[in-house]
Amino acid sequence: MSTRGRHLPFRSGNLAVDRYIAESYDTVRGMSSRFAATICGHVIRRQSEHGIKGHIAEIGTFEGRFFIAMALGLAPGEHALGIDTFDWPNAGLLDLFHSHCARLGLPRERYTAIKANVRRLTAADIRRALGEHVLGGQVRFWHIDGDHSREALTADLALAEATLHPQGMICLDDMLHPGYPLLVVAVHEWLERHPDWRVLAVIDREDIVAAAKFLICHKDVVALFEQDLMTTFKAQHWVLGSEWERYFCVVLTPQPRIAEVD
Ligand SMILES: C[S@@+](CC[C@H](N)C(=O)[O-])C[C@H]1O[C@@H](n2cnc3c(N)ncnc32)[C@H](O)[C@@H]1O
Repeated sequence: MSTRGRHLPFRSGNLAVDRYIAESYDTVRGMSSRFAATICGHVIRRQSEHGIKGHIAEIGTFEGRFFIAMALGLAPGEHALGIDTFDWPNAGLLDLFHSHCARLGLPRERYTAIKANVRRLTAADIRRALGEHVLGGQVRFWHIDGDHSREALTADLALAEATLHPQGMICLDDMLHPGYPLLVVAVHEWLERHPDWRVLAVIDREDIVAAAKFLICHKDVVALFEQDLMTTFKAQHWVLGSEWERYFCVVLTPQPRIAEVD
């Protein structure tokens, strides 16, 4: 069912991002939910308010559905980087991506597309593509949505970490997806090796093709966003939280409810 132009009960607070999500999101094929795009748009806006400057980057850009939502939230001087093999379902994908960007208010000078297998890219390549001299080539928000294998996610996390602003955020797609049950194992192993990192929030699914995402960041960054997410998205806050053994994190879901017990 098309939801184009419908009134959504949640907002990122950035007009351009919210207009795109409400009016044009359906016109760009993709696999990320409006809900997750809204929450991430909000986080990107709050990063700017906290003075966290940097670029946004995505592994697995496809037609650009989520990429455009993130990029429309950038501040002046910041750049967006999309990485994809751009070869599926056919060789026309890159042109289609560029045409969506142009149509939806993202001029070429605001973003770069790298058509490559991300495994062939190094942190230096990412910094170079973003212009090392601009904001140190640092990324403040990464979306990882490429190859959905455990090994690839581990490598993608290493690349993201190596180029991340110290107060930056990494968003991981398709967490807890029934089709990719072991991705969360890679995340858990990575978090065990990074005891100073936390899951800030679990953004719940809308459906099987618009699945859950995790937001992860350094533990010192959590306080900048945690209470704000619970307050801003009060109507979508699942108050029981998500248990990570040493701490609980925020859970946001389009329609929170708790099982009824008589
Ligand atoms: C699930 S789609 C991304 C959906 C998109 N992020 C969205 O939210 O609509 C996954 C994308 O990852 C890309 N991909 C998979 N493995 C890759 C790799 N090793 N290097 C670059 N891109 C890759 C695929 O080409 C595909 O376009």
